[in-house]
Amino acid sequence: MLPRIVRPSMSLAQQGAKQLSTSAQRNAKVAVMGAAGGIGQPLSLLLKNSPLVTELSLYDIVNTPGVAADLSHIDTHSKVTGYTGPEQLKDSLRGAQVVIIPAGVPRKPGMTRDDLFNTNASIVRDLAKACAEVCPKAFIAIISNPVNSTVPIASEVLQKAGVYDPNRIFGVTTLDIVRSNAFIGEAKGIDPQKVSVPVIGGHSGITIIPLISQAKPSVSFPDDKLKALTERIQEAGTEVVKAKAGTGSATLSMAYAGARFGFSLIRALNGEQNIIECSYVRSNVTDAKYFSTPILLGKNGVEKNLGLGKLSAFEEKLLQAAIPELKKNIQKGEEFVNKK
Ligand SMILES: NC(=O)c1ccc[n+]([C@@H]2O[C@H](COP(=O)([O-])OP(=O)(O)OC[C@H]3O[C@@H](n4cnc5c(N)ncnc54)[C@H](O)[C@@H]3O)[C@@H](O)[C@H]2O)c1
Repeated sequence: MLPRIVRPSMSLAQQGAKQLSTSAQRNAKVAVMGAAGGIGQPLSLLLKNSPLVTELSLYDIVNTPGVAADLSHIDTHSKVTGYTGPEQLKDSLRGAQVVIIPAGVPRKPGMTRDDLFNTNASIVRDLAKACAEVCPKAFIAIISNPVNSTVPIASEVLQKAGVYDPNRIFGVTTLDIVRSNAFIGEAKGIDPQKVSVPVIGGHSGITIIPLISQAKPSVSFPDDKLKALTERIQEAGTEVVKAKAGTGSATLSMAYAGARFGFSLIRALNGEQNIIECSYVRSNVTDAKYFSTPILLGKNGVEKNLGLGKLSAFEEKLLQAAIPELKKNIQKGEEFVNKK
């Protein structure tokens, strides 16, 4: 069992309802890096739609003037500004409390997330360098794949710059939770908004470990169905990559998941209590230096790592299989920064 403090995280729709029903503090500046992309645009739209966001800074190497002009016509109170190209990078980050990074290339059919490393590693490194200089206290939420390696990359960069705070860097794995909730809701005929499944480990293939034994409400499946469901969750990204047939990977569901995670960060910054999200963070829960578990979020980021909880024998085996792969991905990220 997870500690009693763990309660189902709120879905985006539930967060929206809460935003409208409470007088939440309104002072968050959010920067989206890669804002003109397939994820960046719908993510920015969801952020623009939220009363939690007061300033939205949109950075990309292309097309942000158009995206910013478009979003700025929406009649919500946040101010939207577009920034384009490396010469405007630092300005885009000034004063940001939350930086969300979906910059970089997505997968095409046949590719693993690790195949994206060569392109995305340097993109995340350069964005992290700018954060270190301009907004070292910001919460940084990394969507760019391979997340298992890009989080170590950003962490090493901040460490080298002398401003590393492991409690403020997050790998966004929320889509794995959202997918698990959707698939289990569908399989059991439960409203997916009422399902909450912790997903631990990392964010690629066998490193994605859904803890269906800890799902709320409690659900059970015969062994063969449990295995098939677990594998579907692990390969759900590939399902979308195949269906999109060369035009990209998950963007809309990722924007939804990224917005949910971003709102949780803002609500924690605003002092709301009991904000819990699974996230890939610096960790000593397992042998892997970075690992995703449910995290209690607070004003300073990670307030408490809520750990693994009790795993079933099946989940224990998944964990053993994931650790060597995770360690390899982490080492690759760290070496990328340190060889330079
Ligand atoms: N964490 C997850 O669950 C998850 C899910 C889906 C996709 N992703 C990853 O998110 C990333 C983005 O996917 P997408 O579908 O939006 O791709 P996309 O190609 O549609 O958009 C990426 C954007 O990044 C921009 N970009 C490139 N280099 C940049 C730089 N140096 N600085 C700022 N912006 C830069 C591009 O101009 C583009 O607008 C990919 O790496 C993808 O694998 C992660």
